[in-house]
Amino acid sequence: MENFDESKTKQNLARAFAGECQDGARYQFLATLAQDEGYFYMQTIFKTHAKNEMAHAKKFYDFLADNCSVKQKNIEICGGYPFTKGTLLESIKDTMGAELSQSENVYPDFARVAEDEGYKDIAKSFLFAGSVENCHKLMLEQLYEKLKGNKLYKSPTPIKWKCSNCGFEHTDKKAWDFCPSCDKPQGYVEIPIDMNSGS
Ligand SMILES: [Fe+2]
Ligand SMILES: [Fe+2]
Repeated sequence: MENFDESKTKQNLARAFAGECQDGARYQFLATLAQDEGYFYMQTIFKTHAKNEMAHAKKFYDFLADNCSVKQKNIEICGGYPFTKGTLLESIKDTMGAELSQSENVYPDFARVAEDEGYKDIAKSFLFAGSVENCHKLMLEQLYEKLKGNKLYKSPTPIKWKCSNCGFEHTDKKAWDFCPSCDKPQGYVEIPIDMNSGS
């Protein structure tokens, strides 16, 4: 096993930690964008993703804390990060691209290096994070397609719609404008997501 302080895995953990913190922040920004446009249920999805990213950040930070042999005051990293500015729809698309790159390239690469350097647990946690980023990507893909096609609250066949505020349910081809039970607007209706579709 490499000396951890000199290993590539330490650098990758530090980069992953910084990246996950930024992902968490970006999902919070996305949640605010969704809220501003009245998509309150979508806002809760993005807040959940933000929480997931912070959990990844914590895991990577703990690995650094547990493995660095010297009491370090500072870790230097060098890296770029995605920087974009746009509408809710554009931001969802950009985030989708970032999740794709993490799940298909970044984390599998980090896992391979960790495995080669003898850090099996760390390799596993990179792969676990990558699998979550893939789920995030699948969710974003569906939200993107539905939002783009103005189909968030429409279905070709009658389906069950559920108010995320009061739990009221009703089967129809489209969701109500205001919940008949609690009067909350359509943005509170749960968006039907099929996580088994797509890539
Ligand atoms: Fe993450
Ligand atoms: Fe993610």
